[in-house]
Amino acid sequence: MSASLAAVKTERGGREPPRHFLELMDIEPAVLRRMLDLGVKAKRGEIAGKPLAGKSVALIFEKPSTRTRVSFELGIRQLGGEVIVLSSKDMQLGRGETPADTARVLSRYVDAIMLRTDDVAKIRELARHATVPVINGLTDVSHPCQLMADVMTFEEHRGPIAGQVVAWTGDGNNVAQSFIQAAARFGFTLRLATPPELAPPAQLVDWARKEGAKIELTADPVAAVAGASCVVTDTWVSMSDEKADGPSSRHNLLAPYQLNEALLARAAPDAIVMHCLPAHRGEEITDAVMDGPQSVVFDEAENRLHAQKGVLLWALGLG
Ligand code: CP
Ligand code: NVA
Repeated sequence: MSASLAAVKTERGGREPPRHFLELMDIEPAVLRRMLDLGVKAKRGEIAGKPLAGKSVALIFEKPSTRTRVSFELGIRQLGGEVIVLSSKDMQLGRGETPADTARVLSRYVDAIMLRTDDVAKIRELARHATVPVINGLTDVSHPCQLMADVMTFEEHRGPIAGQVVAWTGDGNNVAQSFIQAAARFGFTLRLATPPELAPPAQLVDWARKEGAKIELTADPVAAVAGASCVVTDTWVSMSDEKADGPSSRHNLLAPYQLNEALLARAAPDAIVMHCLPAHRGEEITDAVMDGPQSVVFDEAENRLHAQKGVLLWALGLG
């Protein structure tokens, strides 16, 4: 890119703050709803033309991914954009170049950056220094793109999520923490059953309650699931736990929280089952539940593609 064009781009970035998609808590409910509506339109084939024509997006992965990688790459191409998929181990970021400098450089080349990282501090630094939107593709404490797909999936099957009861059973991990933010932003009741040692951070729960969210914490999965419209679980060992904890101690703690047929029977009779995937069958969820009639886990995986189109269109100022 020539110096003058680079200057124009920098200046344009400097005029309006970029529309980062970092945490659901940073974004107004009406704006999140607009993104979801765009995602639904995308799923129905109602997005005209190629709105991302002439735009390029860098996807950076510091951790493995199937759904996030494929759904973002394909979604961007389907909207007419260019996409560059990068693994941090092949980048200077992986050998010490700072997220700030990476942000400054990539902002000269591309129109948006998505990052998956195991350290939320890195995406915050990237966003502080990027002049283009930064999208959170999972951190150790959040997974907001997943929640956009989850809310879309719930509403597709059961109508508006506001006022409904969603139950979480298992680890109070990154996805659980984004569920807490989503409960505040989309107005549903969230009951979380976790071992006390793996409860979500009190500060986040306090924030959500101050926002008016109904968050109920318990160590008893049966109490959490009772009468719920949706039951959700996730892996017992997240990517960011792999180096820190002994997986076997987590398994012992989490075994009573398995989502099996007996636990699901305590939910509402028409409750749906969600899991962000990848699942560890026989651990946090049984085959019978995952493959059973109440499971919508593959609709949920598909909806990553559609929901993220809504996020991209908003972030790029196109919706
Ligand atoms: N649910 C999810 O983010 O899956 P991947 O790790 O495969 O991207
Ligand atoms: N909690 C899981 C989600 C994977 C999409 C993890 O962080 O590994």
